Amino acid sequence: MGSATDRVVRIGIVTCSDTRALTQDDAGYALEERVKAKGWEVASHVIVKDDVDQIARAIVAAADEQGVDVVLTCGGSGLSPRDVTPEATRKVCDRDVPGIAEGMRAHSMTITPFAMLSRAVCMQRGTCIVVNLPGSTKAATENWEAIEGVLPHAVSMMAREGH
Ligand code: MTE
Repeated sequence: MGSATDRVVRIGIVTCSDTRALTQDDAGYALEERVKAKGWEVASHVIVKDDVDQIARAIVAAADEQGVDVVLTCGGSGLSPRDVTPEATRKVCDRDVPGIAEGMRAHSMTITPFAMLSRAVCMQRGTCIVVNLPGSTKAATENWEAIEGVLPHAVSMMAREGH
């Protein structure tokens, strides 16, 4: 029988940006590369404006229509008035998973004190986990490195497979 670490995790990427097009989504493609390097699947990758409803719809589409295990949002989790990704995430998710956001900030604080400016949340929508990552390529990949190791276990727990 395979262990949780053998699991192929299915990922949806939702980049939130007022200025970039999908072809310019360097951070999103860097995340794609890292996901695929683990042998996991990128089931969808879209870009939407920094708009609560657009982001919320994209999260729901990835979770409910594509049926991904994990939605990675990218960008829009800072302090500017246009940064609304955490609000969109809260709108369509039911349960907080605070340890993942805390873990990302703890890891990132060893790299830069600007990590404390992240308002990122991590929440569940049913059996899908939604993680807010920052929008720069460097910051997104640093935060990804903090969480990739726990995702297979998180996904197997959500599927009621226990520990
Ligand atoms: N985390 C890491 N590891 N490295 C970074 O450079 N930048 C921070 C923070 N987290 C950063 C980081 C900054 S400056 C901001 S504003 C927040 O992520 C949110 O970024 P976002 O608005 O692009 O989502």
